[in-house]
Amino acid sequence: MARTDNDSWDLASSVGATATMVAAQRVLAHREGLIDDPYAEPLVRAVGLDFFVRALDGEINLEDVDPRFSIERAARGMAVRTRHFDRLFTDAAADGVRQAVILAAGLDARAYRLPWPDGTTVFEVDQPEVIEFKSRTLAELGAQAKAVRRTVAIDLREVWPKALSDNGFDPSQPTAWTAEGLLIYLPPEAQDLLFDRIDELSAPGSRVATEHIPDVSMFSDERSQLISDRLKQYGHDFEMGDLIYHEKRSDVISYLEDRGWDVSARKMPDAYTDNGFEFPEDGAIGFFADMSYVSAVKR
Ligand SMILES: C[S@@+](CC[C@H](N)C(=O)[O-])C[C@H]1O[C@@H](n2cnc3c(N)ncnc32)[C@H](O)[C@@H]1O
Repeated sequence: MARTDNDSWDLASSVGATATMVAAQRVLAHREGLIDDPYAEPLVRAVGLDFFVRALDGEINLEDVDPRFSIERAARGMAVRTRHFDRLFTDAAADGVRQAVILAAGLDARAYRLPWPDGTTVFEVDQPEVIEFKSRTLAELGAQAKAVRRTVAIDLREVWPKALSDNGFDPSQPTAWTAEGLLIYLPPEAQDLLFDRIDELSAPGSRVATEHIPDVSMFSDERSQLISDRLKQYGHDFEMGDLIYHEKRSDVISYLEDRGWDVSARKMPDAYTDNGFEFPEDGAIGFFADMSYVSAVKR
């Protein structure tokens, strides 16, 4: 079903299921020893979406969904991504930043798994059902956050800065922000508003990491359709093209530069090389090849 202005979801439906999908990829990267995220697997299993549970149990061969997929490829792709966003937080912490905001946190367990310095507060923002499920499941697992963790259960199309402040966010302190896997799910004007707000709330020395995807047509191209059709054969009704906003949007790199941020961006092939991985040259990651991992520091 296509998106609507006030739509909502849990981790098994609509945009929420994409959080479970990427967490399932983190399980593969963790199992391959490429990242350290022991919470991804119990979280994905707790959500209980049959396709992902069966895939983790080895009952579904990724290469049957798309011959160019493999566990190793999925694991490496997610390792490149996870390390980029981990680094934003660990570099910021090394520079004395003690306030972090994970926007669209989904099943991100960084509050529980990164080595946060004493005195750090990590805010997690996402829709209420997503926040509630993750908090409850991790509590049941006995997981302990390694920082002060504050949750902000709100839709990012609403006035979330007030909710953040009401939970103790301090705009006079520098902040490390991540918007990972979020932008394509926001309408173009909501993306601009997101970065306007980040900018307003960011003291000098604040940082942000995100992705720049110059072309979203891959999410509704022939290959994407084929993958959706195959997923349906496994009982997983998942139409990526219905979940994203296809209209042209601002270039996040120049948007931040224009607002006084020093931006660096690594295109996918370079990001793979940075991580010591060979970039798949057979088109396996399609238009993702044009994607960049972005990080920026506010002057
Ligand atoms: C692909 S998942 C990424 C989750 C997490 N950042 C990660 O990389 O594991 C997309 C996330 O964006 C969140 N999201 C998308 N649009 C949102 C909105 N309008 N308000 C709050 N959360 C939103 C979803 O709930 C979901 O958790």
